[in-house]
Amino acid sequence: MTARRHRLAGHGLERGPEVTVVVDGRPRTAYLGESVAAALMADDDDLEVRTTSGGAPRGLFCGMGACFDCLVVVDGIPGTRACVAWVRDGMVVDRQQGRGIPYRPTGRRSGASTGDDS
Ligand code: FES
Repeated sequence: MTARRHRLAGHGLERGPEVTVVVDGRPRTAYLGESVAAALMADDDDLEVRTTSGGAPRGLFCGMGACFDCLVVVDGIPGTRACVAWVRDGMVVDRQQGRGIPYRPTGRRSGASTGDDS
């Protein structure tokens, strides 16, 4: 699987300059002009960006900054909406647990929402 797998090429779209972001401790290629969510989606089939305080998985839902399901820790700042934060070179992104503890998922999770929205 490559970082370019889910990104459009051509179709009248121009990609910004390549940058490196660190996601869960690993460097990844991203492009200026794309959101943190896009950078995460480009390289991950199981887009779990956070867990609630009760441990329920959350991913992208609205993709436009309204639902707050995509909260991640960016450069140490928890509660950053991945869908409306733009990548920059050297940015450090960690998935978020509860109200702001970064965590590194160890494997694929299953299960649906428990209704815990925290
Ligand atoms: S996906 Fe809804 S706020 Fe980001």
